[in-house]
Amino acid sequence: MSLEVIILAAGKGTRMYSDLPKVLHPLAGKPMLVHAIEQAQTLKPSQTHIIVGHEAQKVASVVEPMGAQCVTQNQQLGTGHAVAQAMPMVDNLAVVLVLYGDVPLVPGVLMQQLVDKAMHGDLAVLTVTLDDASGYGRIVRNDQGHIQAIVEHKDANDEQLKINEINTGILAAKASLLNNWLPRIGSNNAQGEIYLTDIVAMAVADGIAITNLQPDYPQQTQGVNDRVQLAELERWYQQQQAMQLLRDGVQLADPTRFDLRGELTAGKDTYIDINTIIEGQVSIGDGVHIGPNCHIKDSHIGAGTQVLANSIIDKAQVAKNCTIGPFARLRPGTVMHDNAKVGNFVETKKTTLGKDSKANHFTYLGDTNVGEQVNIGAGTITCNYDGVNKFQTHIGDGAFIGSNSSIVAPVTIGAGATIGAGSTITKNVENNNLAIARGKQRNLATWAKPKKC
Ligand code: UD1
Ligand code: CA
Repeated sequence: MSLEVIILAAGKGTRMYSDLPKVLHPLAGKPMLVHAIEQAQTLKPSQTHIIVGHEAQKVASVVEPMGAQCVTQNQQLGTGHAVAQAMPMVDNLAVVLVLYGDVPLVPGVLMQQLVDKAMHGDLAVLTVTLDDASGYGRIVRNDQGHIQAIVEHKDANDEQLKINEINTGILAAKASLLNNWLPRIGSNNAQGEIYLTDIVAMAVADGIAITNLQPDYPQQTQGVNDRVQLAELERWYQQQQAMQLLRDGVQLADPTRFDLRGELTAGKDTYIDINTIIEGQVSIGDGVHIGPNCHIKDSHIGAGTQVLANSIIDKAQVAKNCTIGPFARLRPGTVMHDNAKVGNFVETKKTTLGKDSKANHFTYLGDTNVGEQVNIGAGTITCNYDGVNKFQTHIGDGAFIGSNSSIVAPVTIGAGATIGAGSTITKNVENNNLAIARGKQRNLATWAKPKKC
């Protein structure tokens, strides 16, 4: 039996006070809706339908590349109406899993358990027991404990309002059952909406078994209606990730001051100091030390490397035993070979630093290929841009670049060459030559200091 997923994402998200549709607000760097789709995709559904309405184009541009189809719901007439919009596209023999785009953290395994129940013919609903159930649909059970109905907060009587088991909104059922129930839902309720939750009472009437599952943590089914809830969910998710890294052997100085917005793989004895952000796909070798306040994105950091405080590393490949920072900025296309060093206030872009080479202070290296055992003096700038085009600089093995030099690309500095401090280099330098390109010093003995008039 095939599976099709329907994700409700048409709502406006008024309480976010945002131009961005609510479901596209990021949690751990990724839109909430993308979290939901990725988890759903672990179940290998044959189709994923996203119900869109508010800012439909923006939502479509994010979900269509993921292989999901958008179904427009022009008017948000209720959750039952929303699901009904997708049903003409759904195979009547399939099982349907209904998710919400603003409930980002439902684990795929829990979705699978619901789907398994639905495959057996049940209506499977995901419920959770909360201390404060206000605002949610209540799960009404009979004396035997069997679910009888879901009653929305605004429609509930005093007795029902005391129930603290609530509907998360997430459910699974056979498409054939939904096709039978959905057209029969009315809107005779406090909000005048077509409630998806009405199918529960219909299932009871039809003698269809209703089973429920609960999440391990309430946060896994927590929906986001405003920025407070989003921030709370973000903190919980970060805490979970941090604890997992600690259990896997990564030492975090403080798990409450660590953010992972993507995936991190780390070797043994890695230490990460406070306030570090890891983004995208990052891999770290054994024994790496990352100082405080670093931002590392889509990069590899080789074993034994030290990243000192306040360094930014973006799309860089760093080999073993390198030193980076403090206050270094490695921009995309930076490659550091073993034992290379990039020190404070050094910026690199599309630049390779060979084995044992160093640029320790105040330097810009752009579009540059630096060989092995090169020393780049403080204040060196590769002038890679003439305002229109970018040009390459090549610096050979063992070269020594004196401080405060401007290297005007395109240019090649030969192996073993030395550049005198303060030079502006515009021509190639042969291997082992000394190049000095600066004003000659004159000392004037006859000079008299100006006197005050
Ligand atoms: C719904 C449930 C309630 C449950 C709660 C959990 C119903 C009738 N009620 O209530 O039992 O406790 O979720 O959070 O189902 N949406 C559409 N189109 C619509 C209406 C809604 O796409 O026409 C989307 C919204 O964007 C949102 C989700 O469906 O992502 C839930 O809608 P919302 O209006 O927030 O439902 P609640 O009133 O919170
Ligand atoms: Ca809601």
